[in-house]
Amino acid sequence: MTVAITLAYLLAAVLFILGLKQLSSPKGARNGNFTAAAGMVVALGATVPLLHFTSAGLIITGIGIAIGGLVGTVGARMVRMTAIPQMVALFNGVGGGAAALVAVAELLKFGVHPQFAVLFPSVFSIVIGSISFAGSAVAFAKLQELMTGTPITYPGQQIVNGVLAAAIVGLAIAILALASVPLTFLPLMVLALILGVAFVLPIGGADMPVVISVLNACTGLAVAASGFTLNNFALIVAGTLVGASGSLLTKLMSDAMGRSLGNVLFGAFGQAHTAATAAAGAQGRSVRSASAEDLGTLLAYSQRVIIVPGYGLAVAQAQHAARELADVLEKRGVDVEYAIHPVAGRMPGHMNVLLAEANVPYEQLKEMDQVNDDFKNADVALIVGANDVVNPAARNTPGSPIYGMPILNADQAKNIIFMKRSMRPGFAGIDNDLMFGPNTVMFFGDAKDSLTKLVSAVKAA
Ligand code: TAP
Repeated sequence: MTVAITLAYLLAAVLFILGLKQLSSPKGARNGNFTAAAGMVVALGATVPLLHFTSAGLIITGIGIAIGGLVGTVGARMVRMTAIPQMVALFNGVGGGAAALVAVAELLKFGVHPQFAVLFPSVFSIVIGSISFAGSAVAFAKLQELMTGTPITYPGQQIVNGVLAAAIVGLAIAILALASVPLTFLPLMVLALILGVAFVLPIGGADMPVVISVLNACTGLAVAASGFTLNNFALIVAGTLVGASGSLLTKLMSDAMGRSLGNVLFGAFGQAHTAATAAAGAQGRSVRSASAEDLGTLLAYSQRVIIVPGYGLAVAQAQHAARELADVLEKRGVDVEYAIHPVAGRMPGHMNVLLAEANVPYEQLKEMDQVNDDFKNADVALIVGANDVVNPAARNTPGSPIYGMPILNADQAKNIIFMKRSMRPGFAGIDNDLMFGPNTVMFFGDAKDSLTKLVSAVKAA
C-alpha cells in the first residue's frame, strides 16, 4: 500500500511538472491546466487511504469537498477576465490560511514539547501562511474596490513593519527554543496576520499582481512546510513547485516593468505619479485626431499592420472586435500581427488569454523580442488601449517612473493610430509623448466601439 501511494505521489509530481511546462506557451496552457489538475486528482486519491476517518469525519470532509468544489467551479466560471487577479488572490489566500490551520492542528495534536522536526515547519507554516492569508485578503479587497486601491501610507510605516517582522522572528525563536506549545502560537499567528495586512496596505492597486505572485510563492512555501509537518511527499513537491514558480514569475514581472522587486513592494508606486499626472495635464500640447473613415482607408491600403493591445482592450472587452478588424484586413491582403508586451494589461499573459478567447491564431501573437524589429517596416501600429508599454519615456527620459522598462517600438511605425478614450495616462500615471508625435493620430472612444467603426470603415474603403 505504501509503495502504491508513493508511486501515485510520484505520478502526481510528474503531472504537476508537465502541467507547468505546458503552461509556458499559450498553445499548451489549456492542456497544462488539465494536466496539473489531473495530478491533483491523483494526489488526492492517493491520500484518502492514509486518512483514518470516523463516519462523522467522513461526512464533514465530503461536505467540505462538495462546498469547496462548487464555490471554486462557479467562481472560476463566472469571473470576468479583468477580475482574474482578485480571484487568484482569494484562492491563494485561502491556500495559505489552510496551510497555517493544518500546522495549528498538528501542534495541538502533539501537545507540549513536540519534536523539532514537527515544531519548526509548523511554526514556519503558521507565520508564512498567515501573512499570505491576510495579505491576499487585502489584495483582494483592493482589486475588488472594496477599499481604496491606492497605496495607504503613513510616516515611519516601513519601520513599524520592520518592528513587526522582528517581533515575529523573536517570538518564533522563543517558541522553538522553549517548545512548550500548545497555545503559544496564537500571538505569533495574530502578529503574522497583522504583518500581512500592513505589508500590502502601502502597495498600489495595480502593483497587486506582483504582490499576489509574491504571496503565491509564500503560500507554496507554507504548504511545503505543512508537507514536512505531516510527512507528506505530495504536499512538499506541490508546495515547492508553487514557491519556485511564484518566485520566478515575480522576478519576470518586475523585470518586464523595469522595476526592482523592492521598488514594487516598498515604493508606494501609486502615489508618486499623482503629481506627474497633474504636471503632464498642465502642459496643454495638442494632438491630431481623425475620423473612422480616414483611418479605415489608411488601414485598408496598408501592407502591414501591427496591433498593440493593452489594458484598455481588456476593459472594453474588445478582443472579438480586434479579431474582426484583423479578419477584414487580411481579406484585403493586409499582413496583420499582434505585438504582445509581457506586462500589457494587469496580469501575466493577460493579452494572450483575451486574444485566445477570440480565437486569434497563436502564430499571429508575437512576443516583444520577436516583433520589435518589425515595427519599422509596418505601415500602421494600431494601439488599442495600451499606453505605458509603448511610452518612449521608458527609453528617453531618465527619472521617469518607467525609465528602463523594455517597450514595444510602436513609435517606429510609419503611422500610429492611438486608440483610447481620453488623454488620461495609463497605470504608471505619466504622460506619453507618442500621442503628440508627428506620425500619430488619436482615435478617441471606447476600444470596442472604435474597432467596430474601423471594421465598417475598412469594409467601405
Ligand atoms: P496602461 O498603461 O495601463 O494604459 C491603458 C490605457 O487604456 C489607458 O491609458 C486608458 O486610457 C485606456 N483605456 C482604458 N479603458 C479603455 C477603454 N474602455 N477603451 C479604450 N481605451 C481604454 O496599459 P498597458 O499599456 O497595457 O500597460 C500595462 C501597465 O500595467 C504597465 O505600466 C505595467 O507595468 C502595469 N502592470 C502590469 C502587470 C501585468 S503582469 N500585466 C502587473 C502590474 C502592473 P483612457 O482612460 O484615456 O481610455
